[in-house]
Formats: sequence, C-alpha cells, structure tokens
Amino acid sequence: MKVAIDGPAGAGKSVVARAAAKALGFIYVDTGALYRAIGLYALRKGVNPGDAEAVLPLLSEIKEELRFVDGEQRVILNEEDVSDVIRTEEVSAAASAVSAIPQVRAFLYHTQRDIAEKNDVIMDGRDIGTAILPDAELKIFMTAAPEARALRRVRQLAERGIQAKYEDVFAEIQKRDANDSSRAAAPLMQASDAVLFDNTEMTLEENIEKVKKMIQEAKCR
Ligand code: DC
Repeated sequence: MKVAIDGPAGAGKSVVARAAAKALGFIYVDTGALYRAIGLYALRKGVNPGDAEAVLPLLSEIKEELRFVDGEQRVILNEEDVSDVIRTEEVSAAASAVSAIPQVRAFLYHTQRDIAEKNDVIMDGRDIGTAILPDAELKIFMTAAPEARALRRVRQLAERGIQAKYEDVFAEIQKRDANDSSRAAAPLMQASDAVLFDNTEMTLEENIEKVKKMIQEAKCR
C-alpha cells in the first residue's frame, strides 16, 4: 500500500508519518532527506545550490541510498551517513534550491519509486501525490498556518539542541513555501484526489490518530 503525504515545511508531515508508519507496520520514507543530501553536497563543494549549471555536473559524482535501520531511515551519500548533518537551516535552504532543478528531481525519481514498489510505504514530500506516487491509495495534503508551523519548527530544532529565533524560522518557512510552490518542476501542490488536512488547531496526538484512521479506512476500501 502507498500513502502519500505532501505539504509545506513544518506542517508536521514527518512526525505524523513516522508515528503512523510505526503503529501500522509501514516504512516511513522522508523524501526531503534526498534533496537535503544533494544540497549538502553542493554546499560542501562550494557550489551555489541555486545555480543549475553548477549543480548538474555534481550529480554524476553523487550516489545516494536510503537504508532502513530498525525502521528508521538513514540517508547515505557516497557511503557516508549524512542523516544528522542535513538538518541545519542552511541545508534546508540548499535543498529547496536544488529541488527546483528538474534534473535533480529526475535523478531521485527511481530511488523513491523503487522503495514504494517493494514496501508498504508512507512517503512524505512535496510532489509525492502528484509526481512520485500518483497511484497512491491515499493522498493527504497536510498543512497549517505558517505561524503554527514556524513555532513547531523552533521546538523541533530545540529538541535537537539547535537554538533558533522564531522570527528567523518564520522568515525561512515563508521563503521556502514560496520557493517550493512557485518552481516550474513539480511544485508543491495538492493533488486533485488528495484529502486536504489542516492541523493548525490539532494536537500532535489528534493528528496522528486521525491519519492512522484515514490509512486504515483506505486499506479497507
Ligand atoms: O521535507 P524537507 O523540509 O526535509 O524538504 C527539504 C526541501 O526539499 C524542501 O524545501 C523542498 C524539497 N523537497 C522537494 O522538492 N520534494 C520532495 N518530495 C521533498 C522535499
């Protein structure tokens, strides 16, 4: 079974998808990590992630792989586990920039598709319902007010020991929303057959329960 969860940064996709996957025996696939690893590689090479002509030659140097250890996804970039170092705000912006390049999206297509062919997956991203898994049995477009998303992001970063100012995170989220929605290649968009899910007023627990219920209902269809 394939479940697609798309939506803007900070909508809670990853926390909810991870919890639902664990409870229901699915594999949770965080596709943003694949774009983040390419963003990281560009930064390390001193290449502007927004410069398509400079980023494209790097793709032939990159081998990316997703591994699952005890149900947890690890992102392997040229044999290095970069799962933790891709979580900075600098890499977030770089990921958003490289993700606008159509060849980068094509480069990552099969990695995502292969995992979904072989496993029951809950996959989150920006174009899962529209481009990667158009055949998903359930598509959820998860969103929340930008203020709520910024606040959650600040808390999430704090849990990882990263101190971030609300104003900075709010500005970064708005910039990323604009970038991800306005790009020509597979922009962030609700699929026509996706369920719109606004969780601004929901607690995390309510959110997880609701998504689990939606998946169980879709399974019975
Ligand atoms: O989900 P995330 O915040 O880790 O994603 C980082 C960036 O990667 C996001 O700003 C846009 C891009 N992305 C994408 O274009 N398509 C996806 N399926 C997932 C992420």
